[in-house]
Amino acid sequence: MRRAVVFTGIQFENPFLLSSAPPTESENNILRAFDAGWGGVVVKTIGLHPVVNVVGARTKFFRTTPDDNIVSMKKRAGAALHGSWNWELISDKGLDWWVPRIRKMKEAYPTRVVIASIMAGSGSDKELRAWQTLAQGCQDAGADGLECNFSCPHMDRKDMGSNIGKDEGLCSVVTEAVKEVATIPVWTKLTPATQDIVVEAAACFRGGADAIVSSNTFPSLPVIDPETLEFEINVDGLVSSGGLGGPAILPMSLANMARMCQAFPDRAFSAIGGVSDFSQALSYILLGAGTVQVCTAAMLDSAVGPNVIKRLNAGLDAFLDLHADKWKSIEDFRGIRRDRVVSQSSIRRPAGDAYSGGFEPVEGYAAPEGTVVAQ
Ligand SMILES: Cc1cc2nc3c(=O)[nH]c(=O)nc-3n(C[C@H](O)[C@H](O)[C@H](O)COP(=O)(O)O)c2cc1C
Repeated sequence: MRRAVVFTGIQFENPFLLSSAPPTESENNILRAFDAGWGGVVVKTIGLHPVVNVVGARTKFFRTTPDDNIVSMKKRAGAALHGSWNWELISDKGLDWWVPRIRKMKEAYPTRVVIASIMAGSGSDKELRAWQTLAQGCQDAGADGLECNFSCPHMDRKDMGSNIGKDEGLCSVVTEAVKEVATIPVWTKLTPATQDIVVEAAACFRGGADAIVSSNTFPSLPVIDPETLEFEINVDGLVSSGGLGGPAILPMSLANMARMCQAFPDRAFSAIGGVSDFSQALSYILLGAGTVQVCTAAMLDSAVGPNVIKRLNAGLDAFLDLHADKWKSIEDFRGIRRDRVVSQSSIRRPAGDAYSGGFEPVEGYAAPEGTVVAQ
């Protein structure tokens, strides 16, 4: 069991989870995911009441072409995935629908991890009680942990979703309310749409959070089609801010993870953003993350990522084989690159007169004056 990890006290067969999103929107999907080998799932965010999504597509995928770098949702030959864009709300099934299903999936797969993502408002005591009702319902059904959604980017309400994740006071208060009733670990999933995510992470820890999860999608818009002059996703010509996920967000999400892992080296972090293969998961683990979650890549692989989890597990095995002389498990190399992110002024400059504005021709820059460039 070299792949096994213990994260916030929960035993995982492997550190890879499907994140809260379409891959975990139904019992059938989740059972297929466990069959495929995922160590855990975070169930699509559950509210007290079902919600109604917009007309038409809730998610589309940006692709980019190698010759002109045009990012568009239009399918084009030879185009590669750039990211996902969605304006999907939380689960369109409420707590009552989910409770018996969580129970059944835990009965079917007792050694796999089920984390229930939950969401309510924060503007009144009644809303805080709604968080507690959700938490109690899911834990009574057998969920192994809770993930508080402070990160959904398309909420009109000021007291919900990423609007909680942008407010350190609300982050603390809601976490505390959930912790008051929780008998299982509580993770909080933060929005990346904030000035300094360390502030909100600190607030969640003050409220008693057992782990921080990052990133949810980044606020964004679809591009405008130059021929029709319409957004590539719209309803009656209208669009609202949605969320960008997939490869496009990997570097930004790494930066947030690095900041948080440095600020709280002894705390638990679950990483998400642009993972489709072990190499990306490894970056997060080397910074200090203890588990890794996947959405976009799984959506594009038979909806629950059977090949993605095979690649993640195989990549981890190969990595442990390669370094078998030093490391026996993830814990042995987790965080070993945490301290390599430093301030700009700590980075070495060329010594003496070696620096004169850059001698070597560098991609993206004009050749230094006086150099002859081969055509
Ligand atoms: C269509 C769609 C729906 C999503 N729904 C939720 C949700 O209900 N709750 C949540 O916490 N995150 C939700 N997410 C965010 C993902 O869980 C994940 O954080 C994000 O997509 C980044 O991961 P990725 O780069 O692997 O896609 C959703 C993402 C997509 C694309």
